[in-house]
Amino acid sequence: MLGFYGGEGPYPTPRPMSEADIQEAIAGFAAAAQRAQAAGFDGVGLHGANGYLIDQFISEYFNHRDDAWGGSLERRLAFPIAVIRAVRKAVGSDFLVGMRLSQIKVTDSNYRWAGREEAAIIMTTLEAEGLDYLHFSELDALTPAFEGTDKSLAALASELIDIPVIANGELGAPQAAEAIIAQGGADFVAIGKAALANHDWPHRVRNNRSLTALDFAMLMPRANLSNEDAWREQHNVSATLDVGR
Ligand SMILES: Cc1cc2nc3c(=O)[nH]c(=O)nc-3n(C[C@H](O)[C@H](O)[C@H](O)COP(=O)(O)O)c2cc1C
Repeated sequence: MLGFYGGEGPYPTPRPMSEADIQEAIAGFAAAAQRAQAAGFDGVGLHGANGYLIDQFISEYFNHRDDAWGGSLERRLAFPIAVIRAVRKAVGSDFLVGMRLSQIKVTDSNYRWAGREEAAIIMTTLEAEGLDYLHFSELDALTPAFEGTDKSLAALASELIDIPVIANGELGAPQAAEAIIAQGGADFVAIGKAALANHDWPHRVRNNRSLTALDFAMLMPRANLSNEDAWREQHNVSATLDVGR
């Protein structure tokens, strides 16, 4: 675990999941989604990005299996497909189920899928499983996804699939967010750092108020609310402005 999140010591050496481990993980996603539904949420976003478990199956970067869960791209998509089906079965059709994808991994921000063809197969295959949206996280959502193309991953998806596309990555400036929507590169934007720094980002943007840039010192030595509160008090920077909500 990253020190940033409270982990310490050497990383344990991973071992391949057994069939029982895989079935347990699939059932775990379904049970978690069901709890979210019971708690009153409108939907769930399955985390298939950044080198987390679903991404570890999708990407040949991690997936070195030679059984039904690895090898060809079709087999590498078997786990996300099984998760989507189990979650959908658990929550029914009247509940949003989406998935977040990225090329980059927490362990490698330069990693790219094999190219446009692979990206297209991933996007269209997952869409066909009945997802309500796909969310693409990139370092910068306005930059090209692959060499030899001028399209970002989200823009490519907007061309290839019919479900809503969410773009993420350096869209915290309203001009950048507006640009990707205006270009037809996404239906929605998701913001990370800008929202950590400005809890009322939509209200500030709507009312033309200034935005605070994220200072990573706010999240040190660990990313938790008490460190953020201490930083805000010390620097006299509030999380929200009174903009007449
Ligand atoms: C402090 C911090 C913690 C993050 N933790 C996670 C995480 O646990 N899982 C994840 O998928 N992305 C995580 N991210 C990445 C964000 O979800 C987002 O994709 C990224 O910051 C790019 O969007 P932005 O430019 O709007 O911040 C984190 C980002 C920051 C700054």
